[in-house]
Amino acid sequence: TIRMLRQRRLFMKLSLVLGSLWIYVLLDHPKAAWDPTYRLMYGWLEYTDDDGGPVKVCNCSAILDGEREAREQAKLLTITKDFHKSVQIPDEYYINATQDCRNFKRSRKYLTFPLSQEEEDFPLAYSIVVHHKNFERLLRAIYAPQHFYCIHVDKKSDASVVVYSAWPRVQADLNCIGDLYKISTKWKYFINLCGQDFPLKTNLEIVRMLRSLNGGNSLESERMADAKRSRFSYVHNITNGDIQFTGVLKEPPPFNIQILSGNAYIVVNRGFIRSVLEDKRVLALIEWSKDTYSPDEFLWATIQRLPGVPGSTWPNPKYDMTDMSAIARMVKWVWHEGEEGSEQAVYPECQGDHVRAICVYGAGDLQWLIEQRHLFGNKFDAERDPIAVFCLEKYLRQKALAELR
Ligand SMILES: *[C@@H]1O[C@H](CO)[C@@H](O)[C@H](O)[C@H]1NC(C)=O
Ligand SMILES: *[C@@H]1O[C@H](CO)[C@@H](O)[C@H](O)[C@H]1NC(C)=O
Ligand SMILES: *[C@@H]1O[C@H](CO)[C@@H](O)[C@H](O)[C@H]1NC(C)=O
Repeated sequence: TIRMLRQRRLFMKLSLVLGSLWIYVLLDHPKAAWDPTYRLMYGWLEYTDDDGGPVKVCNCSAILDGEREAREQAKLLTITKDFHKSVQIPDEYYINATQDCRNFKRSRKYLTFPLSQEEEDFPLAYSIVVHHKNFERLLRAIYAPQHFYCIHVDKKSDASVVVYSAWPRVQADLNCIGDLYKISTKWKYFINLCGQDFPLKTNLEIVRMLRSLNGGNSLESERMADAKRSRFSYVHNITNGDIQFTGVLKEPPPFNIQILSGNAYIVVNRGFIRSVLEDKRVLALIEWSKDTYSPDEFLWATIQRLPGVPGSTWPNPKYDMTDMSAIARMVKWVWHEGEEGSEQAVYPECQGDHVRAICVYGAGDLQWLIEQRHLFGNKFDAERDPIAVFCLEKYLRQKALAELR
């Protein structure tokens, strides 16, 4: 990954912090501005069936159209062991192929120039927590030279869900937030991702949706359920990678801040990020949150309702935003799945498998997913369902190139 990204106008800093490996990939602006003649040379950037290896036995356009036969065929292949083995890109491939960076970028069809002036003028800052092999597929899908990336690589290949619920998950983003804010004043919005996210929109669509927010932020921020209040009214203690309830009462939040409920995924403007780094109330809230359970599920949601934070909304419940109305992330929880028209259901049933009550999308989920407004979906796993990832990346690339025409 490091070698793959190395190029003349790129520098990298490696440092060992908190027992994890942090890689900062800091890119400055491309030398050449966007040139309309690029549109004449895009053809080779299309992903072809050959790029997907044996995945070519699937008909992606039929799957995306929701055709039953194609979906069933994909499902059948997905549960076949031999098929799985044959489509995985082994680590050895990456280790060898990235020896020659230029060739790697060419053969993997990385976009090495902005696809439009509009996109070049709207750089984004990405903070990515990686603990999973799918990372290269995600990076390739979101990569554009005008963006800035901060990548936190977790030393453990499988992040334990427990510590995921504690402070270190937030600290990973906070470290990246500090670095991304310092490295450039050019980027307009900040988006945090993990290795199992995948875009549902092209970069141009993302840019246009962000511009339509008119400086606002888009993240879940709602009333906190009473049942969850013990998560921050009592001290929690991380011991040996485990988070424990202690029964010791905490002080109330600083500045009488009202705690709201949300999730770890945010789409926020540069001013929000400045507040995270500089606002006294936010800094006190961050300190206060360090011994709570799952601070990522209230910290951003709470900052989003603080008066004066750029792009925030008033604390009144009329401004509550659910995960379905925010564009940050489409996550399907098992208990909200069901038939359209039923009172309880929020979304159709998962067509993949559930991991810790969250849907790992299958090819059969794609048609519904791309119709949603959300910029990214979670979870995708190229090992569990390689067809879902392949068809989605192919669809997005085709669409991005079609937007050039
Ligand atoms: C894939 O499906 C589409 C319709 O959904 C069809 O028009 C096309 O011919 C199919 N392609 C192949 C190779 O079967
Ligand atoms: C290693 O990568 C080079 C291209 O960078 C390729 O020519 C060669 O065949 C690869 N070797 C193996 C064992 O895959
Ligand atoms: C947290 O854990 C440490 C070591 O395991 C222990 O010394 C400390 O007393 C614990 N704190 C609370 C509030 O239980």
